[in-house]
Amino acid sequence: MLIHVERLEKTFRVAEQRSGLFGAMGSLVYRKYRLVRAVRDVSFAIGRGEMVGCVGPNGAGKSTTIKMLTGILVPSAGHVEVLGMVPHQRRKKVAQRIGVVFGQRTQLWWDLPLIDSLELLRYVYRVPAARFLHNMARLRDLLDLDSFLRTPVRQLSLGQRMRGDLAAALLHDPEIVYLDEPTIGLDVVAKHRVRDFLREMNRIHGVTVLLTTHDMADVEQLCSRLLIIDHGTLLYDGTLDGIRDRLGTERTLVVDLAEDVSGPLFVGCAREVRADGPRRWLQFNRLEATAAELIAEVAASYPLHDLTIEEPDIETIVRRIYEEGLSPLEAKREATL
Ligand SMILES: Nc1ncnc2c1ncn2[C@@H]1O[C@H](COP(=O)(O)OP(=O)(O)O)[C@@H](O)[C@H]1O
Ligand SMILES: [Mg+2]
Repeated sequence: MLIHVERLEKTFRVAEQRSGLFGAMGSLVYRKYRLVRAVRDVSFAIGRGEMVGCVGPNGAGKSTTIKMLTGILVPSAGHVEVLGMVPHQRRKKVAQRIGVVFGQRTQLWWDLPLIDSLELLRYVYRVPAARFLHNMARLRDLLDLDSFLRTPVRQLSLGQRMRGDLAAALLHDPEIVYLDEPTIGLDVVAKHRVRDFLREMNRIHGVTVLLTTHDMADVEQLCSRLLIIDHGTLLYDGTLDGIRDRLGTERTLVVDLAEDVSGPLFVGCAREVRADGPRRWLQFNRLEATAAELIAEVAASYPLHDLTIEEPDIETIVRRIYEEGLSPLEAKREATL
């Protein structure tokens, strides 16, 4: 395993703001601290060549986890191992072999043209000249950098800057790339471009990818494995299909009746959940009936004009997990399946 995390914990000590008289007296009085348990008892392992998506609401602990994997933060408890090393103990060694992109921040020099930043990073990472030329040619092509290579980073659009950051993170042929919200704020075209690039890096160059995102489409289009984290706890570790199979069994048959009928439709294996004139939404569980059976049953009693089947979308399912939870135990069982 390239990445191994065992019972990882991170607790921050945050100074409480004091108000009133004590607040005014400031540091003369004792300070009160509050503990924030950002990551609690998280365990997972990622193998070479995997592309794993990590989702969770704001403040779930995603960035904190990534920072412990890169060695920027030291865990409060538990164990992290990346490429056989403990990141915070071997920060430089690990940095030589990983790439990191924080979508909300840039590692590029704000006032320099993009190309200068990339050349500086070449020295930071000690990339041999031939390797640099080879990688630059590839990255320029894949990320289409040429039109803004000489533009100062501060003048780049968000999408251009992200492409620059991706190039910066991949210049030294890292074996692992961590991407924290790589598509945040990007428009549809820019997102598409970033996803294409990541797919290529993973498929063709075998780069192992762990990305966090708010956009389930990133996960659907890139990752076969999903981690769901909330309140610092890993709620799910498994495939996207696994989540659909287990929680997404409710489907909806939408029918347009050839002529409207009064009142709801009566169908044995489905429930009418919505009506809009002759258009009716019939919810059914695919473990109880197939769509074909249901359609046959409806058509036998009501003349149909048209029909479609709506699959549960992954976004809805994941939101339900945030809201209703999935016990950590179940998440672990899922991981070992
Ligand atoms: N440096 C820090 N000091 C104190 N609290 C922090 C720090 N970094 C993160 N936190 C807190 O830890 C929790 C997890 O944050 P984070 O990992 O950034 O979540 P996410 O990336 O999933 O949005 C949040 O409650 C956040 O406020
Ligand atoms: Mg974050």
